[in-house]
Amino acid sequence: MTGATMPRRRPACPRRGVVPLPLLLLLRLGAVLLLLLLLTPAPAASSAPGTTTTDTITAAAPLAGNRTLVSAGRGTFVLGFFAPEGGAEGRTYLGIWFNRIPERTVVWVANRGSPVLGPAAGAALRVLPNGSLAVAGGDGAVVWATPPPPVPSSSAASGDAIGAAANATAQLLEDGNLVLRVPGAGVVWQSFDHPTDTLLPGMKLGVDLRAGLDRHLTSWRAPGDPSPGEYTFRLDPRGSPELFLYRRSARTYGSGPWNGLQFSGVPNLRSAALLTFRFVSKPGTEAFYSYGLADDGAAVLTRFVVDPSGQVRRLVWIDTTRSWSLFWSYPLDECDGYRACGPYGVCSVDRSPICGCAPGFDPRFPAEWALRDGSGGCRRRTELNCTAGDGFATLANMKLPESANATVDMSLGLDGCRRACLGNCACRAYASANVSSPGAPGCFMWTGDLLDMRQFSNGGQDLFVRLAASDLPLSTSSAETNSKTARVVVIIVPSVVGLLLLLVGVCICVKKVKKRRKEATPLPSRNAQSTPFRRRNQIAASSDAQDDSLHNGQGNNKDCDLRSFDVEKIQAATDNFSIHNKIGQGGFGPVYMGKLDNGQDIAVKRLSRRSTQGLREFKNEVKLIAKLQHRNLVRLLGCCIDGSERMLVYEYMHNRSLNTFLFNEERQSMLSWEKRFNIINGIARGILYLHQDSALRIIHRDLKASNILLDRDMNPKISDFGVARIFGTDQTAAYTKKVVGTYGYMSPEYAMDGVFSTKSDVFSFGVLVLEIVSGKKNRGFYHNELDLNLLRYAWRLWRDGQSLEFIDPSIADTSNAMEVLKCIQIGLLCVQEQPKRRPTMSAVTTMLTSESPTLPEPCEPAFSTGRNHHDDDEEDDGEEDPEAKACRSDSASSWTVTVVEGR
Ligand SMILES: *[C@@H]1O[C@H](CO)[C@@H](O)[C@H](O)[C@H]1NC(C)=O
Ligand SMILES: *[C@@H]1O[C@H](CO)[C@@H](O)[C@H](O)[C@H]1NC(C)=O
Ligand SMILES: *[C@@H]1O[C@H](CO)[C@@H](O)[C@H](O)[C@H]1NC(C)=O
Ligand SMILES: *[C@@H]1O[C@H](CO)[C@@H](O)[C@H](O)[C@H]1NC(C)=O
Ligand SMILES: *[C@@H]1O[C@H](CO)[C@@H](O)[C@H](O)[C@H]1NC(C)=O
Ligand SMILES: *[C@@H]1O[C@H](CO)[C@@H](O)[C@H](O)[C@H]1NC(C)=O
Repeated sequence: MTGATMPRRRPACPRRGVVPLPLLLLLRLGAVLLLLLLLTPAPAASSAPGTTTTDTITAAAPLAGNRTLVSAGRGTFVLGFFAPEGGAEGRTYLGIWFNRIPERTVVWVANRGSPVLGPAAGAALRVLPNGSLAVAGGDGAVVWATPPPPVPSSSAASGDAIGAAANATAQLLEDGNLVLRVPGAGVVWQSFDHPTDTLLPGMKLGVDLRAGLDRHLTSWRAPGDPSPGEYTFRLDPRGSPELFLYRRSARTYGSGPWNGLQFSGVPNLRSAALLTFRFVSKPGTEAFYSYGLADDGAAVLTRFVVDPSGQVRRLVWIDTTRSWSLFWSYPLDECDGYRACGPYGVCSVDRSPICGCAPGFDPRFPAEWALRDGSGGCRRRTELNCTAGDGFATLANMKLPESANATVDMSLGLDGCRRACLGNCACRAYASANVSSPGAPGCFMWTGDLLDMRQFSNGGQDLFVRLAASDLPLSTSSAETNSKTARVVVIIVPSVVGLLLLLVGVCICVKKVKKRRKEATPLPSRNAQSTPFRRRNQIAASSDAQDDSLHNGQGNNKDCDLRSFDVEKIQAATDNFSIHNKIGQGGFGPVYMGKLDNGQDIAVKRLSRRSTQGLREFKNEVKLIAKLQHRNLVRLLGCCIDGSERMLVYEYMHNRSLNTFLFNEERQSMLSWEKRFNIINGIARGILYLHQDSALRIIHRDLKASNILLDRDMNPKISDFGVARIFGTDQTAAYTKKVVGTYGYMSPEYAMDGVFSTKSDVFSFGVLVLEIVSGKKNRGFYHNELDLNLLRYAWRLWRDGQSLEFIDPSIADTSNAMEVLKCIQIGLLCVQEQPKRRPTMSAVTTMLTSESPTLPEPCEPAFSTGRNHHDDDEEDDGEEDPEAKACRSDSASSWTVTVVEGR
């Protein structure tokens, strides 16, 4: 494998650059699997003692709707009837799910398109007299059946054949496969040949031409609806087989061809630790991808699923957290969009715009290209001269082009491959078809246009693109023509010119690199400092690191221009601002979700038309804000201006906002303390970046749970930052009061006097922390006995040493008490009445990350929400202690430092 572990080209942020992404992923995989092995309890072989479970049904013993089959052995899988959670009432499906885990995770559905109408008790799975396996409803009507088995050739007499079929048995195997056997004919049907949305270990994704099978995955329509959805993941067996994701019939993502080690478009996925990948391609016979677990990992539960939102994901069950952990999901970024940059275009997220041309090529439609639409692709500068002088330019770290028309020759080495390509006038490029060990034979040759290429910053492989002699880059052409040195002597003048050009080029390059370094170094990486958290949760931390490196890649792109979206594109993406796509209504206007042509999910904020700014100011402002990049800020992708209409386009956050989890009784429990602490930390880092580390020094002014969005891994991202700037609210004070800020989160000085500072954000942050810990809304919280708001309630409990009562009951037993208490105290410090007493965000992040910080005693919080605090001063104890007096005094010097005890 060349270059897989060598960071190239980009002198990346040194802290991150040391450990390349694939290695991180491998480490992560290894760590998780090891952890799993250590933590997986001894398999509950007799999972249901007492009851006589069976794994087989026959004509005589059908499966009634209220019973289930459990696979023999470890009892990993269950077959039975179910009604999906959150689905339509009264629809029953026959499915297979994991037996030993609490949340029912369905991996296969028989009658996904034709549910039994009515309760499960009425349904049944039977073996029919003609040997087909059928699902019948309460009225006996068959809603789903396998084709009847073919007559076994051994029993020529027809009477016998029918008898044998009637003796068919269906068995649920330990690997999750439901097989139908006929005596004398073996397995005549199996569920593994008809996957739904999930690929389990041992299942094959691909085609078997002899059996006429095309095993592919189709997503559920929605999480509660197993009927076939929009997305299909399927193998195209032509040329060098490649997996494609389709939305309806349109391709949205291609994996790249298999290169002996992995799919070339997914360089960070390859067999590792206990997971092994297998790819078989026998032209004319079969081609498939499958994966398995090594013997010692057989107890690990893992699945590979196409979800209704069009993501291909691998998940692994973690017993300790009782949840599915996401290993990876694809497509990942814009460059994963199918044919993102057209023929001969090369996509790279490390540059802006993301599309570039292969060497020797120029944009075909320069005007569109300038508008960031690269789909038209590139055109060859000089046509190839088949007979003489053609050579190859080397593109490193590549996802190989789409290969349906590629020629594969596994006997040719790389040199032979090159000669074969030169000898074929139609050949456009070649590459190694087996990179699993250096020098292994294997040759891909492309004769059509080169499509769907991307370049990685590391990983990927070399691609050799054929060019006319005049277009060859200097380095390769000199290597190319070393046998023809005589020619070089004749043309001294051009080479001198070339040398000069080269010198100038080198100078410019050196300058650029220097400049880039300069720009890159002052960019502080807060995340890298948060090492204590890393120790606590190795898995979460390494996924953090992965995110970081991705973000740094984008962050280094300092001169990135703002992307401008056509209004037509936005309309198409959001279904013309359909009400169904509306996902929220913020202070500045409604928010819609949408999907771009390339499959990328976006959120579009349609700004209300009250902005006080002119067009140019607006653009400048948006440009500035787009430069704010931090892993805890929602990324602004661009804007769209159409007449007086102004829209901001953001990356879409799949888990919506914090309030949809925090204040929802059902979903509350999905936020473990670990996750909540991660969220608190992330918000703090995001605000710190806005307050201190960004060029703009932004005060958010409207921090609240609904403005904290969550990505797929529940990492928090602050949204709506900087929008206040766009609206120029400083100039229109009345407007400020109306729109910016939300009762319950506003600091008293801001709510009452309109005075805001970074300390008003600190106040809102404090409210958020207390809400996250308690799972209760500040606004709307009402304690009937004491007439307290959430902040005062928290403070009372804290003062009385009963803070543990404040914790959300749904996390009470899983939480780390010291950490929770620390957060409560930090929250209380942030909501103190006097801004001066509140810590700065940098102090907050320090407190959060130190293992046992010494924190000051908080004063009683402000009453928030705009009530006049002076009217409300009575203490119900009547007496005033010296601490309270100190809090009342105006001096900020009383930052007493005390050691936290585990109250
Ligand atoms: C299932 O239902 C049938 C009648 O519909 C009943 O006789 C049987 O006991 C039930 N079995 C279980 C396991 O509940
Ligand atoms: C198999 O038998 C069932 C009932 O006996 C019948 O409804 C079904 O049509 C038969 N299938 C075929 C293909 O003959
Ligand atoms: C089907 O099973 C019955 C009972 O086990 C047996 O008597 C019969 O011979 C079997 N039929 C065939 C064709 O195997
Ligand atoms: C290719 O190059 C040779 C020599 O430079 C020239 O004679 C020939 O005409 C060229 N052929 C084409 C198709 O351009
Ligand atoms: C493969 O060849 C066919 C027929 O020439 C063409 O229509 C198709 O676009 C080609 N596909 C690719 C990926 O080049
Ligand atoms: C790739 O090369 C390795 C090592 O030489 C070999 O074991 C493997 O079989 C090759 N793969 C294919 C598909 O030829």
